[in-house]
Amino acid sequence: YGDSNQKIDYVFKVVLIGDSAVGKSQILSRFARNEFSLDSKATIGVEFQTRTLVIDRKSVKAQIWDTAGQESNGEKLTTETQTLILVAPWPCGRPGGLVLVLNFSLSFMGGGKTMRCDGAAMRWRCDAVSRLEDESTKYRAVTSAYYRGAVGAMLVYDITKRPTFDHIPRWLEELRAHADKNIVIILIGNKTDLEDQRAVPTEDAKEFAQKEGLFFLETSALEATNVEEAFSTVLTEIF
Ligand code: GTP
Ligand code: MG
Repeated sequence: YGDSNQKIDYVFKVVLIGDSAVGKSQILSRFARNEFSLDSKATIGVEFQTRTLVIDRKSVKAQIWDTAGQESNGEKLTTETQTLILVAPWPCGRPGGLVLVLNFSLSFMGGGKTMRCDGAAMRWRCDAVSRLEDESTKYRAVTSAYYRGAVGAMLVYDITKRPTFDHIPRWLEELRAHADKNIVIILIGNKTDLEDQRAVPTEDAKEFAQKEGLFFLETSALEATNVEEAFSTVLTEIF
């Protein structure tokens, strides 16, 4: 775990998508830091974490992007949440700056122009902050920045919540509309530790995945079941 100073042969961007609270951030946390938290907060904006692995004697840096699942599941943003565009220079110093669209509560902004995301080593200085009024502009801005350059996608649902599985075709549609057509996609049914509350039979998901040509695994971020396998499936296939 953690990145050393070793030589990197490849950098692969992988995106996590799926409804809110299915466990995207905890799957990422388990993979990147081998950590899990039961009182995980809903993701605000866009975050990413990296982990370097060795595949076929090459070092591959996986850059996993995570965002809030509320965008596509039809829920409206809460009143205290505003959509802001932040034009921020990338921490690695790439010139020109990068446009990220984040959903931030204004109280969190506090009028200041520097913020930390999730305690990670991502510190953005806002060169400009402006509010977007048009929903569709907001939506397009988020999706195109999020999917740009992604070579893998993890489509996550919660095995105890049927609607999160029923929304998968919508997420898939969004992926196919915005991501590269060769993107490697894995369908993930998370929270297998809650077997007694299962609402989505494994067979249903397996059948759907087969029909759509997706990889499929069931995971538990809590018990660390299949998380490693899910990422290595995607990364190896990309490789
Ligand atoms: P958004 O950021 O809102 O899109 O949600 P998310 O998909 O990132 O969900 P998150 O990882 O924050 O997890 C939501 C809740 O589910 C938290 O309470 C987690 O602790 C819990 N959770 C995540 N993975 C598992 C799991 O494998 N098993 C169990 N029992 N709970 C889990
Ligand atoms: Mg999250």
